[in-house]
Amino acid sequence: MKTVGTFAEARELAVGAVGLVPTMGFLHEGHLSLIEAARKENDSVVVSLFVNPLQFNEEADLVAYPRNIDRDKALAQAAGADVLFSPDTSTMYSTDPRSTVVVKGVPDAMEGAHRPGHFEGVATVVAKLFAGIQPDKAYFGRKDAQQLALVTTMAADLSFPVSVRGLPIVRESDGLALSSRNILLRDDDRSVALGLSSSLFTASAAFEAGERSANVLCGIVHDELDTNAAADVEYVNVARASDAQLVDDVDVTSFLALAARVGGVRLIDNVFLDPNTERADRGIRLTKPTILYGDD
Ligand code: PAJ
Repeated sequence: MKTVGTFAEARELAVGAVGLVPTMGFLHEGHLSLIEAARKENDSVVVSLFVNPLQFNEEADLVAYPRNIDRDKALAQAAGADVLFSPDTSTMYSTDPRSTVVVKGVPDAMEGAHRPGHFEGVATVVAKLFAGIQPDKAYFGRKDAQQLALVTTMAADLSFPVSVRGLPIVRESDGLALSSRNILLRDDDRSVALGLSSSLFTASAAFEAGERSANVLCGIVHDELDTNAAADVEYVNVARASDAQLVDDVDVTSFLALAARVGGVRLIDNVFLDPNTERADRGIRLTKPTILYGDD
């Protein structure tokens, strides 16, 4: 694997069918599942690692964001990456950028409503990655379900010749969704954080038993979080998977999503609900402890 800092170098190394996995680093098995999928489906795999300042609406969050490039290099290589594209901020953004990408509608609720400017930052950096790397396929996690809808919409609207793939959430063996931010949780916060996924699983069981009302499903999550967890809930919503519009009833593939602060750490999680199969996608569980808590 080669590490490069410019688009030109990345393009030169990426031959044949190119799979792109955009990340902000501090890789865990969720990211690695995307890299492994890209490895299977492409001739060249480019992993981008860039902590994008444009998408952080809180300076403190940007500063606290965990970083470990040496470990990321080893993990990306082991998962099958050919190129690690790790640009400086000055390479990605000129001092006075005048063009950004605004997607309408998709950011209106949930993450977009709680993080002003966040999705403009995401759409802009992903558009730059698509234009600069020119991948055939790009891989995103359902962990960020609204982001996945945003990127899919943007790629279609702006005619990027890329196929956007959305892959399942990877969870720890106890159900906690993997996140680079989990390292910031203290021990007692972690058990509170577990309440988030378990409340979504309770609602998933109700969905699989036939419940289709978004209100009822969100109520199940709220009730469980109120009684079981000292989490500061920001939102619980059901949205259409394709464009993240809130729905009253689950009659197309949708996701039940929440955001909460646990011990000062902002966490998001969701389950996908498919009315055709009548199944909820709770993601994939690791059987071993995550590398996040490994001894690096
Ligand atoms: P980051 O948070 O590093 O996530 C990179 C990709 O990994 C995203 O597509 C995200 O959905 C996926 N991912 C994160 N946790 C996951 C999990 N537990 N299971 C499966 N996939 C998971 O998302 C971003 O970076 C940025 O917004 C980015 C798209 C790179 C633009 O800056």
